[in-house]
Amino acid sequence: MIEDRGFRLFPGRLDEAVQRALVDAVFAAAADAPFYRPLTPGGQAMSVETTNLGEVGWFTDARGYRYVDRHPLTGAPWPPIPPVLLDLWADAAGAAAPPDACLVNLYRDGARMGLHQDRDEADFAFPVLSVSLGDTAVFRLGGTSRKDPTRSVRLTSGDVCLLSGPARLAFHGVDRVLAGSSRLVPGGGRINLTLRRARPGPANL
Ligand code: SIN
Ligand code: MN
Repeated sequence: MIEDRGFRLFPGRLDEAVQRALVDAVFAAAADAPFYRPLTPGGQAMSVETTNLGEVGWFTDARGYRYVDRHPLTGAPWPPIPPVLLDLWADAAGAAAPPDACLVNLYRDGARMGLHQDRDEADFAFPVLSVSLGDTAVFRLGGTSRKDPTRSVRLTSGDVCLLSGPARLAFHGVDRVLAGSSRLVPGGGRINLTLRRARPGPANL
């Protein structure tokens, strides 16, 4: 485990069988909750394709960033978060409540993610737990101000990382994905699963 002011990286935390099972679970869920390209509030289509698992899902369109309890295209509830991810959260996140949201981002050819903070959740005491599957990402991690220095971290398939404590609101993004570095994802690319507690925890309900 590599620890740096609340950013924790667990290299190779998930073995290949678990990685494969998660990819299968994601594509099975996507049969009911299809991937779509979200629109930023500025009206740009994001380069990643997205869906969600859990009671609520992160969503963006012209009205802004928010969590919604239905798939925007089908109107159906999001599929449940697989037990293996709930166990991982219980193990690695040290949180008092389970995650209620799992954002699924699919990076096909050329997709990336600009530097941003995760700040649409009710309580930043809950960490953000991220799982990388498939092609290696060149991940960028900064501080809590956009102007803070950043560093580059390679996230390979099976890596898990945690943004907690002082790093909970750290700026982060994906500069690029190294196409063909893994054969895990059918059709190629990378899947990132981001587990979060979006709504208040039980103590605050
Ligand atoms: C995100 O911040 O939503 C995704 C990060 C990643 O793909 O590793
Ligand atoms: Mn993020």
